[in-house]
Amino acid sequence: MIKDQPIKIFPTVETLAKTFAELLKQNVDMTDDNDFYSIALSGGSTPNKIFRYLSENFDDKINWAKIKIFFGDERCVPPDNEESNYRMANESLLKKISIPKENIFRIKGENDPVKEAARYEEVLKSNIPSVTGIPQFDLILLGLGEDGHTASIFPNQVYLFYSIHLCEVAVHPQTKQKRITITGKIINNAKHILFLVTGKNKASVLSKIIDVNNSKSEYPASLVNPKNGKLTWLLDIEASKMFVSKSNNDVIER
Ligand code: 6PG
Repeated sequence: MIKDQPIKIFPTVETLAKTFAELLKQNVDMTDDNDFYSIALSGGSTPNKIFRYLSENFDDKINWAKIKIFFGDERCVPPDNEESNYRMANESLLKKISIPKENIFRIKGENDPVKEAARYEEVLKSNIPSVTGIPQFDLILLGLGEDGHTASIFPNQVYLFYSIHLCEVAVHPQTKQKRITITGKIINNAKHILFLVTGKNKASVLSKIIDVNNSKSEYPASLVNPKNGKLTWLLDIEASKMFVSKSNNDVIER
């Protein structure tokens, strides 16, 4: 149940992507020259369109050398596999922008999953400043599955959200594919979390998560609630079709 969290609803994925790109530029421009802006990318098909927009329209508008790119989750496959979130991000964004290679911190899906979860946890700890002893991302992008999963925390493995670790090994409930995922410990420590949700196939689960009357929720995405940070929902009209509660947060962007 997400009460009073800013919700922005866009007529198209392109207008959503434009707002995301402008927000990213604004935040990077405000980052001190001797500092960097840390972002965890989400996977799946939604970000693909948004990353393409970013690389086609903002390559020369954003100082990419000030950004460090991490991943919120990864499928346990090699980086050139079509299932790889890194491959999707690389094809749609990373190889098209002028970002130093050393600023990209890939989850190595080809590694042993248990060892990789531990390795990536150390990568996060040593490359992102901590607040209250936990690395604090400047921005985490999250998607929403039709079953209410986010990152790679699925409804039948909600306990992973509460792990004492920053990264865990998850298993897709249908395909049994192993995944590496960040957990609630680091997610809810972020300065800003952006849910990027588009398409009518997400309308039903979204309404259950956002509808303020739904006080109980078994959905992992409903557990995302940054302790001291901001949570913003960027939705297209299709995904927002079944909202019951039309709070005053809903803003139609032209
Ligand atoms: C992944 C994602 C996952 C995704 C949702 C939505 O690795 O698949 O991190 O959490 O964001 O499943 O995916 P779509 O945008 O493809 O619907």
